[in-house]
This record gives sequence, structure tokens and C-alpha cells, in this order.
Amino acid sequence: MTYHILIPDNVDQVALDVLEAAGGMKITAGNLKREETLAAISDADALIIRSATKADAELLAAAKKLKIIARAGVGVDNVDLDAATKQGIVVMNTPDGNTIATAEHTFGLMLALARYIPEGEISMRAGKWDRKSFVGVELRGKTLGIIGFGRIGRAIAKRALAFEMTVVAYDPYIPADIAADLGVELLSLDELYARADFITLHSLITDETRGMINSASIAKMKKGVRIINAARGALINDDDLAEAIKSGAVAGAAVDVYAEEPPPATHPLVGLPGVVHTPHLAASTADAQVNVAIDAAQEVVDALLKGEYKNVVNPAALQK
Ligand code: MLT
Repeated sequence: MTYHILIPDNVDQVALDVLEAAGGMKITAGNLKREETLAAISDADALIIRSATKADAELLAAAKKLKIIARAGVGVDNVDLDAATKQGIVVMNTPDGNTIATAEHTFGLMLALARYIPEGEISMRAGKWDRKSFVGVELRGKTLGIIGFGRIGRAIAKRALAFEMTVVAYDPYIPADIAADLGVELLSLDELYARADFITLHSLITDETRGMINSASIAKMKKGVRIINAARGALINDDDLAEAIKSGAVAGAAVDVYAEEPPPATHPLVGLPGVVHTPHLAASTADAQVNVAIDAAQEVVDALLKGEYKNVVNPAALQK
């Protein structure tokens, strides 16, 4: 029996090596256009994607044999989980492979924000020697508030403690002793807002978290707080944050993710003084892309050849 594996996104070549080594796999891979993916999916048994392919209801309706979607990454917001579950398609992610990449990028954004590194760089490229405009703040002695204390949040906490920051976190699903063992105090959201000098977001998008950084929550934060988002753009109400930066209520923000990617030219934060940007790069290290490609391919091999499933995000599909 030969299984057809469709890989329409830019997934590291090592995924193909894992599939080929397993045997019995026909692979269609490359940066496919939407129409090409729609045509190829009718015959696919498994789909391996990053964030570019939208596995929405239209794509899944065209999938006649699909059994598995493996997401080479963490977020599955580009997959219609309800439609997949109804069709009995098991969706798996790879939550381990890009944890460190994302934590390190978040830390880089926090340092860039605290020390005006991008602004200094731009100024020097413009031929200036301006040492007065970019006086930053130290991380040591400041309080970092981590919203969402999963794998990435915890990896950031370890690094922040090494920088002699005080670390507090909010996560309704994590027991306080897990945080305490790491030297982190678990707080309510309002307590975190009141205490943090830097706030970094690491939550999934849910009805509760969508737009959670808005005028009302910013009003509960310390004046001059700095906000970092390398999780999902929709956690922030961009208009509200832009206003707060202009008014000085928020000293600055570092943003790697956008509700719509790429963000439109009219995005209120893009180009705003006080905002540091990267184009959804947090998981983009060679190391992380190899890790998630291996994990996703192995999940497909184990599911198709051995009936073994790991990191399933829609367990109800297994009952179909
Ligand atoms: C993730 O969800 O794993 C990251 O945002 C990276 C990506 O989208 O590939």
C-alpha cells in the first residue's frame, strides 16, 4: 500500500527524508499555490503544513481520503478543527520543536525594545551618531509578566531569571507549585497587569484571549509598560495599543505576529515610533525548522504505519 503525503508549505527537506526512510510514501512537496493544493488534496492521505496553508472548510471538503494533518509548528489556527473532526481527520501539532527558538526570539525582542537597538541601527545607517535619543532601561530588577505559562512561557522565565528579573505569570491552567518550583509567582491577570514592567504574551487565541490587550486592560497596567507579542496577533487590539503608545501609557511594543499576515500598510502599529517589528520570525531558526519537520513527518509515519498518534489536538476525530 502506498500513502500519498502532501506538503504544500516550505517544510524542511528532512521531513521528506523521514517519510522516504519509512517506505511506502508518495510525496507531493513544494511551495504550492492554493489551486495546486486544492487539486492535490483530493488524493492525499496526510497533509503536512506550516502556517501558510489554510486548511479551511473549502480545502478539507476537497479532501476525499485525508486521515491526518500534521502541523509543523504549534498554532493550529490555520486549521478548521471542527470541519476536520467532523470528517474524522486527526490533527496533530509539534509543540516541542520550536520552543527555544520562540523563547530566544522573544528575549531578543525584549532586549531590542529595552535598549532601542533597531532605532540605533536605523539612525547609524542614516549616517547619524545619536547617543542621546536612545537611552534605554535595564532588564535587571524589572518585573516580567508572562501571560500563558506553557512550554515557551517557562523557557522565557528561565532566561529572564538569569537576567535577574522578577518573573510573574498568569495561566489559569497551570498549578501554582509548577510556577513556584521555577521561581515564578503565579498571579491573577489584574495583579500581573499592576506589577509588570514588561509583559510578554504566550496564549492561544480563544474567545477569552482575543483582543485581551486593549484600552481596558492597558488602563490596569503600569504607566510605561513594554509589551512583547510573539504568539498571535489577534491577542492585541492594535488600535488601542497604538493609542496607548502615542499617549505614553505604554512605552513601547515589540511585535512579531499580526492578526492578518502580512499586515496591511494601514496597520496602526507598523512604522509607529516605539514599536519594534519582525515578520513572524520567532520559530524561524534552522534548528527549529529541522525539529518540527522531523516531528511532523514522524507523526505521519507513526499514525499511518503503526496507528500511533501523538500531540493530537482534536481527540474526538480518533473516535470517528
Ligand atoms: C507556531 O505556531 O509554531 C509558530 O507561530 C510558527 C509558525 O507559524 O510556523
